[in-house]
Amino acid sequence: MTPYVADPVYLNGQFLPLADAGISPLDRGFLYGDGVYELIPVYSRRAFRIDEHLKRLQATLDGIKLSNPLAVDAWKAVVFKLIEAAPWDDQSIYLQVTRGADNKRDHAFPPTSVQPTVFAFASPLVTTPADIRAKGVAAITVNDQRWARCDLKVISLIANILARQQAVESGCAEAILIRDGLMKEGAASNIFVVKDGVLLAPPKTHLMLPGITYDVVLELAHSHGQRLEIREIGENELRSADEVWMTSSTKEILAITTLDGAPVGTGQPGPVGEQMWQWYQDFKNTVMRKG
Ligand code: PDD
Repeated sequence: MTPYVADPVYLNGQFLPLADAGISPLDRGFLYGDGVYELIPVYSRRAFRIDEHLKRLQATLDGIKLSNPLAVDAWKAVVFKLIEAAPWDDQSIYLQVTRGADNKRDHAFPPTSVQPTVFAFASPLVTTPADIRAKGVAAITVNDQRWARCDLKVISLIANILARQQAVESGCAEAILIRDGLMKEGAASNIFVVKDGVLLAPPKTHLMLPGITYDVVLELAHSHGQRLEIREIGENELRSADEVWMTSSTKEILAITTLDGAPVGTGQPGPVGEQMWQWYQDFKNTVMRKG
């Protein structure tokens, strides 16, 4: 069986087998979910947009007032070493930093002598099989019960987890989060809508994760002259959309063809999404795989 996590993993300055990587049960990531993460896709052993991912990591660390334990070049050295050691050409690199382990449990920050815990590993990048992509996937809508800093990629993901689990229990691939009548994003993806040939994207606010794939989609829309509006999307617009897609580093661009049991548009992946998927694949093969 293909292992999900490659050996070695990185933990606090060392590369070691996953089986030997241990942390304290007093780690604040474990006790409080007090930490941040990133997921970087790797194509043909090249980390895609690593600078942007490391910038988002920095922004999240700033947001939770945790100083970055590694300089950009040190992060890159960790990532490159994990990529090199892993058996797959296409990978996802997971990075996590927590506020470390004190000798007691206390909500307030530990003394500065407590070192953050830094953990990273490589997994295979599993993309959506062609037959599923051809049909699109189903999604449900749920109330967005997250906090007010959804722009931060923090590990405290319980609201996202509950939303995604609700989707899975309804036989769906994703839950689309609605807050105050507006569509924000998916439990683990950004969401785009197409209406009358116009691509609609919600703006980057504190209530949405600024996706790296979201940025690529906007860039591709600009460079290919795809009509685009960046603005808030009402729940009604979501329900009456011609096309809905989810995007993320692992899902790339994936059509949502059923929403709360009703067909989206024709109930098939639509032409704008198919075109965007093709542009994304071309970009991946000509740019991402070449580094
Ligand atoms: N999730 N919104 C949320 C809430 C996410 O968790 C993600 C990514 C995205 C898309 O971001 P990007 O395009 O940078 O992958 C949007 C990752 C894949 C995860 O949690 O595993």
